[in-house]
Amino acid sequence: MSTALVILAAGKGTRMKSDLPKVLHEIAHAPLLIHAMKSGMALAPEKVIVVAGHGADLVTQAAQEYAPDAEIVLQEEQLGTGHAVLQAAPALEGFEGDVIVLYGDTPFISHDTLERMAAARAKHDVVVLGFEAADPARYGRLVVEGERLDRIVEFKDASAAERAITLCNSGLVAADAKTLFALLEEVGNENASGEYYLTDIPGIANAKGLSCTVVTCDESETLGINSRAELAQAEAAFQARMRAEMLDLGVTMQAPETVIFAHDTIVGRDTVIEPHVVFGPEVTVESGAQIRAFSHLEGCHVSRGAVVGPYARLRPGAELAEDVRIGNFVEVKNAVLDAGAKVNHLSYIGDAHVGEATNIGAGTITCNYDGVFKHHTEIGARAFIGSNTMLVAPVSIGDEAMTASGSVITRDVPAGDLALARGKQENKAGLAKKLFEKLKAQKAKRG
Ligand code: UD1
Ligand code: MG
Repeated sequence: MSTALVILAAGKGTRMKSDLPKVLHEIAHAPLLIHAMKSGMALAPEKVIVVAGHGADLVTQAAQEYAPDAEIVLQEEQLGTGHAVLQAAPALEGFEGDVIVLYGDTPFISHDTLERMAAARAKHDVVVLGFEAADPARYGRLVVEGERLDRIVEFKDASAAERAITLCNSGLVAADAKTLFALLEEVGNENASGEYYLTDIPGIANAKGLSCTVVTCDESETLGINSRAELAQAEAAFQARMRAEMLDLGVTMQAPETVIFAHDTIVGRDTVIEPHVVFGPEVTVESGAQIRAFSHLEGCHVSRGAVVGPYARLRPGAELAEDVRIGNFVEVKNAVLDAGAKVNHLSYIGDAHVGEATNIGAGTITCNYDGVFKHHTEIGARAFIGSNTMLVAPVSIGDEAMTASGSVITRDVPAGDLALARGKQENKAGLAKKLFEKLKAQKAKRG
């Protein structure tokens, strides 16, 4: 049975109070829309259709960046969820199979739940995903009789008795494509919102003698995001799940509740993550590494045995080989550090390559930017860069070379050489003593 996903993402999301379309707000650095698409991919869909409207350009870009084959259809005016699904009809002309409608603002539907919906389709024409809500609030209510779903009533249109129902609508619907579009043609907009509701489908289907049922899942999966407060709750829920998965995979965390992951963070077993570490997107940490407290990592790779932090910042393109040490207040960007290299204190290493077992002294900076262009710094193996060296790129330091502390290096240093590039020291005998006496005498005179 082939499946097409139709993902609704045209709404403005008024309650977000944002210039950004709602579905592009992020959880763990991925837009809500991408979380929803990712969960739908579990069904190996033949077609993926995103219904865009508000901020369609941005929505299209995000959707196709994740799934280049995704088709985007426009819903010029947001006349309701039923109207939104109908916009996908031309793109599914001649498609034989099931449509599963997902909401772009409902990011956490599990693979297992989608598979159970697909399985329920074998026995029923229309399958709706529902959940028991602790606080049903403004969700649509599912009116059921045994296994049979009679109808869905939107909160605004519900009677007091219907509002007392706690079985709620998640928004997900599965039906055969032809059946779904035929039913949608009959949906009107005579309701409290004046919208074409997708949720009218079960009522219409029943009247035609088709069968409708509900598959239920845990409320944590169906969390629909409509406000910043709900976005924050969803982020918290996602982080809690990520932390539990990491612990389960064999990652040690002393205070997991303080560690923030991105949706795509990968950490190997026996790695230790100390408190208050933040992961941005695209980070992989191999097994047996140590990420010490208050470090921030994004777009980087940390190999086995490396130690990062406390208080380190790894930016995109930081590539640490085995047993590298990055210490406190060190920033690394677009730089490859070979095995055993050490940058332990107060440094910036950007647009650089540091050879094996090289030691970079405290306060060293690769001066990579001239105000217009970025330049590369090349440092060989087993070199020693003295504290507070300014490496003015482009520049290269050979294997086993040294730079003296406080040097400003503007020319290449050949392998094995020592570069000294700072003012020469002069000592004036007894002058400090004399100066102190003079100053103290002045102070005494002023009282
Ligand atoms: C909807 C359901 C409600 C359910 C709830 C679950 C309807 C009528 N109601 O209400 O039963 O309990 O979701 O979260 O379906 N959208 C469009 N075009 C439109 C309108 C909406 O693309 O014209 C998209 C939105 O971008 C959003 C999704 O559809 O991703 C849901 O719309 P939203 O306005 O959030 O519906 P709810 O009021 O939450
Ligand atoms: Mg909603």
